Amino acid sequence: MWNQRYSDSEFVYGTEPNDFLKSAYLHIPKGGQVLCVAEGEGRNAVFLAKQGYVVTAVDQSSVGLGKAQQLAGEHGVEISTVVTDLANYNLGTEKWDGIVSISAHMPPELRKKVHGQVVKALTKGGVFILEAYTERHIELDGVGGPPPSKNELFMSLNALKSELQGLDFVVGTEVERHISEGKLHQGESAVVQVIAKK
Ligand SMILES: C[S@@+](CC[C@H](N)C(=O)[O-])C[C@H]1O[C@@H](n2cnc3c(N)ncnc32)[C@H](O)[C@@H]1O
Repeated sequence: MWNQRYSDSEFVYGTEPNDFLKSAYLHIPKGGQVLCVAEGEGRNAVFLAKQGYVVTAVDQSSVGLGKAQQLAGEHGVEISTVVTDLANYNLGTEKWDGIVSISAHMPPELRKKVHGQVVKALTKGGVFILEAYTERHIELDGVGGPPPSKNELFMSLNALKSELQGLDFVVGTEVERHISEGKLHQGESAVVQVIAKK
């Protein structure tokens, strides 16, 4: 499904970074190693590389990460890309100064597993940044997020606090905001935002 969604030359979430990441990335130690999970076409990874971070982007879509490499080339930066299902990816131990998760909606069991690994994989002082749609989004007009029929894919602050035990929440909030990111993230949207530090 994702390879098909990314098969046009157009970047479906745009080429600019996610707004929340743009406001939050300075919490990540300068010049550090950053992992972007479920990074799709690479807009966030390329932005972070341009800010001087050493970035690895992981996604199951080879087409998405191919476009991420194309975008990196256009911006004159290098990123590493790993095509894999996160179910099969080991985030490692005390390896990343930053981990970024933007609209990385996964089935709850996998999400819990990945978030458990996030806690382990951050260096001391490392920072996790997440924005994802909450179930409240179903009631709003905005385009984006999981379909209502898959409401288990939405995230909530309560669930994230439980899944990310071991991190200190610098920011943890559920908000409504206007999103304009390519054709597939548009309009009034309900999201959860997290900045959490190890
Ligand atoms: C809504 S897109 C967000 C892409 C990117 N984070 C961004 O903000 O532009 C969700 C991405 O999650 C990826 N994804 C979903 N489940 C995954 C999994 N189990 N393993 C790896 N990638 C996954 C999809 O391939 C897709 O690229």
